[in-house]
Amino acid sequence: MARKFYITTPIFYVNDLLHIGHAYCTIACDVVARFKRWAGYEVLFLTGTDEHGQKIAQAASLKGKTPQEWADYIVAQDKKLWERLNISHDDFIRTTEDRHERTVQAIFTRLYKKGDIYKGEYEGWYCTSCETFYLESQLNEGRCPECGKPAEKLKEESYFFRLSKYQKRLLDYFEQNPEFMQPGFRKAEMVNFVKEGLKDLSVSRTAVKWGIPVPFDDKHTVYVWFDALINYLTACGYLGDKAKFEKFWPADVHVVGKEIFKFHTVIWPAMLMALEIPLPREVFGHGWWTVEGEKMSKSRGNVVDPLEVCEEFGVDAFRYFLMSEVPFGQDGDFSKKALVRRYNSDLANNLGNLLSRSLTMVEKYLEGKVPEPEGREDEDKDLIEKAEGLYQMVLKFYDRLELNGVLGTIWQTVDYANRYIEKTAPWKLEKADRKRLKTVLYNLLETLRLVALHILPFMPQTAERIWEQLGLEEKIYAQKIEDARWGRLKPGKKIKIGKPLFPRINPDL
Ligand code: MSP
Repeated sequence: MARKFYITTPIFYVNDLLHIGHAYCTIACDVVARFKRWAGYEVLFLTGTDEHGQKIAQAASLKGKTPQEWADYIVAQDKKLWERLNISHDDFIRTTEDRHERTVQAIFTRLYKKGDIYKGEYEGWYCTSCETFYLESQLNEGRCPECGKPAEKLKEESYFFRLSKYQKRLLDYFEQNPEFMQPGFRKAEMVNFVKEGLKDLSVSRTAVKWGIPVPFDDKHTVYVWFDALINYLTACGYLGDKAKFEKFWPADVHVVGKEIFKFHTVIWPAMLMALEIPLPREVFGHGWWTVEGEKMSKSRGNVVDPLEVCEEFGVDAFRYFLMSEVPFGQDGDFSKKALVRRYNSDLANNLGNLLSRSLTMVEKYLEGKVPEPEGREDEDKDLIEKAEGLYQMVLKFYDRLELNGVLGTIWQTVDYANRYIEKTAPWKLEKADRKRLKTVLYNLLETLRLVALHILPFMPQTAERIWEQLGLEEKIYAQKIEDARWGRLKPGKKIKIGKPLFPRINPDL
């Protein structure tokens, strides 16, 4: 039976259009999902939208729409964006779907019957924008510590989830599962937070109408975070499709931004413990992007639209930039200047040049046909070792979601292949040693084939273009791990030189 892999992005709020921060997380998950499929896993890659709550209702009313109309509009835009960015999700969940509302209500009732949800009264400071209650001591001069907007004092009847009951079990779990929180440097803060003592969590609202009704008390709607986290269960068939659930749960990794790490490493696990369901294997908290050194925000007017970046530089250059620029887990800074720098050095000069130089020589010296190699010299062995070893090398990085490490490894090979051209100087071999010329050019083409396979998760279109230019007829998507072995390129086929992959961009423009 194929091994399974279940990976999720957060579900995105539908108050507004998505920006590069959202695209970042989704592209990273897409890269991993694509790699796992290639490695033979049966993958469930989930993304979707978080549609309930006051923030969405307010955004809709500002536009003169009902929350549902507004959500439908944003969802259509989100889906268009994912299509443009070549996101290969297997499912897109909306929290307003029946399958989800049913699951949330069933869970709420179950936990109520079990005594893990009870009725009480809530008094606290609430930030509508972040949908979060805060203690007075957490506010900055009456303002939300996350977004800086004024917090309101609220007192209301509320259902509570008995989070406090799970404090010890959570701490034990963290200790026994050191891999659960990634990257490791995010762990201490969560452990301390739990150690300081957990308060029961208010999980219903009477003031918010746009939400899933509490099934046995329809004055209340379910708190949006309680509703949202459950999406990961709904989508893999919990309470609906037993076979699917048994296959895919627990999730292998929830990839989330650092500011929602706590919801995923403390509240979510406690909910699952209450439901007596195994916990996800890993929660990965990635960093945040600033834009030219500043926090991205509507009020600053510096929100970067991923569609515009793709229009200007192409989808693959955008994906490449986000994945290579910062170690996954750290914060990063986006600027066109940095993108152009990386584009020119890594894509145009390094990868693009390797392809065009290699193909031009095959065309010029060998009538455009893939040659037959003969013999191996030391410099060939080094190149072959690097190209053939790629799969084993990148595996380790993928395991830790060090996606920039994967790219770094692939680019070492690309770089080495360019140096191999200088060393072997095929233009001198043309007259002097045809046999050697053929071997050298074969090695370059075969290296490019392996590079194409390895960049496929990151830059699907570019990988396909390289594949076609190498004259390979079988589909790149049909390739298996075995095809990452050296020597599968068949001599005799015609190459098909195409347009340059990445024409240089003038950095001064
Ligand atoms: N709806 C909740 C998540 C519920 S998951 C059960 C939510 N939505 S969100 O739309 O506000 O944000 C989704 C993700 O986008 C978060 O993981 C957040 O970290 C990420 N980003 C938002 N701005 C970002 C940057 N500037 N940079 C990187 N990621 C950022 O939270």
